Amino acid sequence: MSGTYKLLGVSLLFFILVVHAKDQAGFISIDCGRLNSSSYSEGTTGIIYVSDTSFIDSGESKFISSEYKEDYQQQLWSLRSFPQGTRNCYKINNIKNGTKYLIRTSFLYGNYDGQGTLPEFELYLGANMWDSIKLETVGSYSLVKEIIHIPLQNYIDVCLVNIGLGTPFISSIELRPLSLSYYKTQTGSLALLYRWDTGPKGNRGYRYPRDVNDRFWYPYHREDWTNISTSLTIEPDDDIYQLPSVVMSTAATPKSENGSLEYWLPKDNNSARYYVYLHIAEVENLQPNQSRRFTVSYGGEVFEPKSLVFKQSTTLFSRSGHVGGQPFIISRTPNSTLPPIINAIEVYVVKQFLQSDTLQTDADAMTKLKSTYGVKKNWQGDPCVPELYSWEGLNCSKDGYDPPRITSLNLSSSGLTGEIPFAISNLTMLEVLDLSYNNFTGSVPEFLSKLTNLRIVNLEKNNLNGSVPVQLIEKSNNGTLELSVGQNPNLCVSVSCGKKKKKNAVVPVVASVSGTFALLVMVAAIYFGVKHKRKLKHAERSTTPYSSLESKKRQFTWSEILRITNNFERVLGQGGFGTVFYGLTDGTEVAVKVLSASSVQRYQQFHAEVNLLMRVHHRNLTSLIGYCNDGTNAALLYEYMANGNLKTHISGSAANKISIILKWEDRLRIALEAAQGLEYMHAGCKPPIVHRDVKSTNILLNENFQAKLSDLGLSKLFPADNQTHVSTVVAGTLGYLDPEYYMSNWLNEKSDVYSYRVVLLEIISGRPAVAKTHEKTHISTWVSSMLAKGDIKSIVDRRLQGNFDTNSVWKAVELAMACVSPASTKRPMMSQVVAELRDCLAAERARGWKSHEISDSIELSSLNMTTELRPVAR
Ligand SMILES: *[C@@H]1O[C@H](CO)[C@@H](O)[C@H](O)[C@H]1NC(C)=O
Ligand SMILES: *[C@@H]1O[C@H](CO)[C@@H](O)[C@H](O)[C@H]1NC(C)=O
Ligand SMILES: *[C@@H]1O[C@H](CO)[C@@H](O)[C@H](O)[C@H]1NC(C)=O
Ligand SMILES: *[C@@H]1O[C@H](CO)[C@@H](O)[C@H](O)[C@H]1NC(C)=O
Ligand SMILES: *[C@@H]1O[C@H](CO)[C@@H](O)[C@H](O)[C@H]1NC(C)=O
Ligand SMILES: *[C@@H]1O[C@H](CO)[C@@H](O)[C@H](O)[C@H]1NC(C)=O
Ligand SMILES: *[C@@H]1O[C@H](CO)[C@@H](O)[C@H](O)[C@H]1NC(C)=O
Ligand SMILES: *[C@@H]1O[C@H](CO)[C@@H](O)[C@H](O)[C@H]1NC(C)=O
Ligand SMILES: *[C@@H]1O[C@H](CO)[C@@H](O)[C@H](O)[C@H]1NC(C)=O
Ligand SMILES: *[C@@H]1O[C@H](CO)[C@@H](O)[C@H](O)[C@H]1NC(C)=O
Repeated sequence: MSGTYKLLGVSLLFFILVVHAKDQAGFISIDCGRLNSSSYSEGTTGIIYVSDTSFIDSGESKFISSEYKEDYQQQLWSLRSFPQGTRNCYKINNIKNGTKYLIRTSFLYGNYDGQGTLPEFELYLGANMWDSIKLETVGSYSLVKEIIHIPLQNYIDVCLVNIGLGTPFISSIELRPLSLSYYKTQTGSLALLYRWDTGPKGNRGYRYPRDVNDRFWYPYHREDWTNISTSLTIEPDDDIYQLPSVVMSTAATPKSENGSLEYWLPKDNNSARYYVYLHIAEVENLQPNQSRRFTVSYGGEVFEPKSLVFKQSTTLFSRSGHVGGQPFIISRTPNSTLPPIINAIEVYVVKQFLQSDTLQTDADAMTKLKSTYGVKKNWQGDPCVPELYSWEGLNCSKDGYDPPRITSLNLSSSGLTGEIPFAISNLTMLEVLDLSYNNFTGSVPEFLSKLTNLRIVNLEKNNLNGSVPVQLIEKSNNGTLELSVGQNPNLCVSVSCGKKKKKNAVVPVVASVSGTFALLVMVAAIYFGVKHKRKLKHAERSTTPYSSLESKKRQFTWSEILRITNNFERVLGQGGFGTVFYGLTDGTEVAVKVLSASSVQRYQQFHAEVNLLMRVHHRNLTSLIGYCNDGTNAALLYEYMANGNLKTHISGSAANKISIILKWEDRLRIALEAAQGLEYMHAGCKPPIVHRDVKSTNILLNENFQAKLSDLGLSKLFPADNQTHVSTVVAGTLGYLDPEYYMSNWLNEKSDVYSYRVVLLEIISGRPAVAKTHEKTHISTWVSSMLAKGDIKSIVDRRLQGNFDTNSVWKAVELAMACVSPASTKRPMMSQVVAELRDCLAAERARGWKSHEISDSIELSSLNMTTELRPVAR
């Protein structure tokens, strides 16, 4: 055994003169580290080698010490070494998917770095480890790794991985297409162990052009074998293995008369499977009284091939692999007059490359991104696998060994310019896309709305212009997409951008509702559009008593707005009809909501909002500090609410950078404050005001986490007469919309009560109004089902960890469920809601005092919510 291994050390000299150039069709011959970009024809083989520069963008060009040069073919004189990076990869494009390739890598150290220390590293083929490279000699032979493999994409990645045992390097890479009809396995690829030319005439190896497939044939001698040969050509005839005549015309035969030829397979472990190819051709012209009959046996199985034909090759192999550790025995049959022969042997071991490479469309898209934007990072080899070396900024799906898909792409702060790359459109499984803090220009591409799996898109802090595609805004409004486009000074972020002609446009969210409903709304919009103006006039008239307040507000010019916001430097958020920027005026922090006055609809809403807010003053409603309206530009200045909106604090949303988990007491207080704001609008204002868009993102929190209701822009004044309803264009946010209002288009303050209870359920459960699951379950449906199951414990936000007064939770749930009544008349008034919440808060505060006396752990363990809380009997 050890003898066979040692022979790997034979210095391979290929002194073969090119007799006539044979076809090199499909050959890819890469001379690694070559500086001269022009290809050359290697002197002894005529193989055309090219430099590796177009296959890799890392590593350094190096040259072996001149003392070793003369022993080797030219492609081994230079090499590429990789002092930087853990994994460096060649990407060899334009190969044919499904073609069987012989892939060969060669490594000749040749003391290129003058260190005389031999490195050890790993060799990967795409996602899978191919072999360990452990050099054992400076220059006595080149280490060669060969594999027969069928790539399933149009490229292969050959990667070298630094394992901390020296700098990886490579001398050459060669790909040779092979026929699919030979070297077949049941599964896996075939890594070459040995390819022997047995019984050779000298100490010489052969390759192309002697072997049309450029296999390397190494000479193999053994003490107990002798050699016979013929000077005649061995016909390739029906030999699909296309064996070179020079190899097949020499054969080994046992020295002893009755001896047999034995060849041992290695045994590394029991799971290794070996494929053995015995190539035999009769090299003697037998007389009629001569015969050469033999059997081949392995592991107890015996096979007797049919008689050999003079000068014709036969290959013996088995269709399934062999377990190693035993000898192949080729022995003559009793009636044979001649001993057995063997002309060549090949031994391969099966490599199961289980991990699929990343799906090619995804990998191609990433390659395109890489080449367009030159994003370097560690972007080499397969983007997703092995996970350890996956590309920086990527997350991928993992589904067993199936091709991974890219699910998240983070190119934030990568200094990228130009348009948002179209290649991203092919990443169809993308869920998260972060292109923030770059210098992207052009428009927000339409294709983003076609990527159905996208949940989070961050385009903040770029130079994008134009408008955000309507579908993206719609998705953002209905909660299917978390879209951040702030700090793109020239970007319009409204549905109505570029739709100036549309009079009285339907409010964004409605556009996403089903066709028939949308139509209904359109009709309503046109019809009530006329009425609307009249009512607005009416409303304006009714505000006159309060007009003295107007002097307290300030009117700003557009240039003042620019100064206050420092040219719209910092985005605080996106409202339904404007972007909110941070601003500073006279040392006071403000939130500036910038509207584009180009749309009639928004102009009207702008007025409605100004008029309303000038009248409305309450500690739980965001107060208006000023406004700007210079004909083309419009903005509103509100008090600054440092802690953003409630939703980010209760839903644990990704945008929430403050990860304070609001305690139950705080939640109740916030719920109460929001309710008070709403109560004031309903009962404290004359005429009453319906907010129409109560939701958790419209409840803002100041630096003390005091809650204030915001975004009264959708509100409409009630008519002063005795009508109980006002018909109007359906507005609001799906998930919070009162079904009665939704169906009838009739609005009253009970619609707010309905929406409010959704907020209350969110506060209790920490779940979004509409679950982002496939079922899109509405929170009230979910709570009802939990109540029906008697499972009240799991309604409460798990992050509260049971730290609350059960009775107060119980009361709050009950209250929320009371507001659900489909008939608006059965729903409580906001004043009742406020009263109930005060009780809840009192109960919780009382517990707070008590719990100071007992240790937390006792309190937690004694709390059994399922028994203390009963399901609602409603
Ligand atoms: C590059 O190689 C070609 C062909 O081998 C040769 O003609 C040319 O002179 C070389 N150029 C340089 C700069 O070495
Ligand atoms: C490659 O070929 C295989 C089988 O022929 C096929 O399943 C796969 O989709 C192909 N891949 C590409 C990228 O063409
Ligand atoms: C057999 O091989 C040996 C070693 O290469 C060589 O010296 C000898 O001439 C060969 N004999 C025949 C018959 O080819
Ligand atoms: C070889 O086998 C034949 C027949 O079995 C026998 O006659 C002969 O003596 C054997 N030769 C040697 C050297 O063992
Ligand atoms: C055993 O051989 C299999 C197949 O070649 C290989 O994947 C595995 O790593 C080997 N196990 C050990 C312990 O060497
Ligand atoms: C075979 O026949 C040849 C003559 O044709 C003779 O010289 C030789 O001895 C014979 N060999 C055997 C084994 O009978
Ligand atoms: C030799 O014996 C085998 C059976 O072992 C038989 O099939 C074959 O025909 C025989 N050959 C000769 C030349 O007698
Ligand atoms: C997307 O993939 C398809 C097929 O894989 C390809 O033809 C197309 O060029 C790709 N588009 C982009 C923009 O890369
Ligand atoms: C972005 O691009 C603009 C114009 O091309 C340039 O003036 C500016 O310096 C760039 N900003 C950054 C951060 O690269
Ligand atoms: C959200 O809006 C998008 C775009 O209009 C639509 O395709 C999607 O079905 C909507 N999803 C929900 C839950 O309403």
